[in-house]
Amino acid sequence: MKILVTGGLGYIGAHTVVELQAAGYEVIIVDNLSNTRIAVLDKIEQISGIRPQYSNFDLADRNACFDFFKNTKNIEGIIHFAAYKAVGESVQKPIMYYHNNIGSLINIMENMELHNIPNLVFSSSCTVYGQPDELPVTEQAPRKPAMSPYGNTKQIAEDIIRDTIYSSKLKSIALRYFNPVGAHETALIGELPLGVPNNLMPFITQTASGIRQQLSVFGEDYNTPDGTAIRDYIHVVDLAKAHVIAVKRMIEKTGKLDFEIFNLGTGNGFSVLEVIKSFEKVSEKKLNYKIVDRREGDIEKVWANTDFANMELGWKAEKSLDEMTLSSWNYQLELDKNN
Ligand code: UD1
Repeated sequence: MKILVTGGLGYIGAHTVVELQAAGYEVIIVDNLSNTRIAVLDKIEQISGIRPQYSNFDLADRNACFDFFKNTKNIEGIIHFAAYKAVGESVQKPIMYYHNNIGSLINIMENMELHNIPNLVFSSSCTVYGQPDELPVTEQAPRKPAMSPYGNTKQIAEDIIRDTIYSSKLKSIALRYFNPVGAHETALIGELPLGVPNNLMPFITQTASGIRQQLSVFGEDYNTPDGTAIRDYIHVVDLAKAHVIAVKRMIEKTGKLDFEIFNLGTGNGFSVLEVIKSFEKVSEKKLNYKIVDRREGDIEKVWANTDFANMELGWKAEKSLDEMTLSSWNYQLELDKNN
């Protein structure tokens, strides 16, 4: 059973590759290293004892993509992570985002049809809900107009998948992630974006280790108990396990619809200050932070209703916030050791 994992050397991709290997799947990775490092391949091998097949090319490059599929046989399913994901950057460079995130999906789906590869698991995001009217947010909640080109690429991608499936034999599961954080228990893989992190958790750990001077907390005037914004943080290993279940569901044809959508979160919301407190507790370090203005485009609060994923996938996020912050910190300490 060969599974193609695009973006398999990225943060969520690498954790998913390890879980797929543990479940007995053969993995092929395509990654152009646009936001990760080749060393991740060695780390995956260190964890699982198996070095996955790996190709480095840009999936938005039509010729390269068609060549790859022509030369790679027996792919049972694809998990498509490869995409840009920085909200602010997408506002500055929308064409780059549409070209990469939409172009690569179109190339992949054309090849799925051409080579009869029926199963696609797609990385979607809770960003498609915008600020939901009701919390916790269910999969039935209306999608709100996207707040950024990045968010729009996720909505458009879901639409492209739905429309393509309607007129073909393809099937797909879109997984709408809430906020993935944390790292593998070995501390060999984790979240390590190139350059200055945009996301909260790597910014926290890099501040604690002295790489960044100070964490800015974006806004304390939200309508939340402590005034800071609330998100549903989910441990990346819990998230990775859901991908293995989704792939299995597609291969074993136990799904109910040709296109299924699931929220992947814990169902619990935590504020930015609560995350900081958890981090300070588990790391026994005081974090240097200051409250600044809200960040443009941020929503106030969102957390998932996970009933549908729990029931249909038989999956439930298991790890606590403290486990998330501790594993993120352990990963940072491991990085610091080697620098
Ligand atoms: C955003 C996207 C999400 C996307 C993710 C990937 C939306 C609504 N969410 O998540 O879809 O998958 O990026 O990059 O588009 N914060 C600080 N200081 C910081 C960084 C963050 O206070 O230095 C706060 C933010 O204001 C937010 C929370 O921490 O309240 C989480 O932020 P972040 O980790 O960037 O994720 P989202 O913006 O929620």
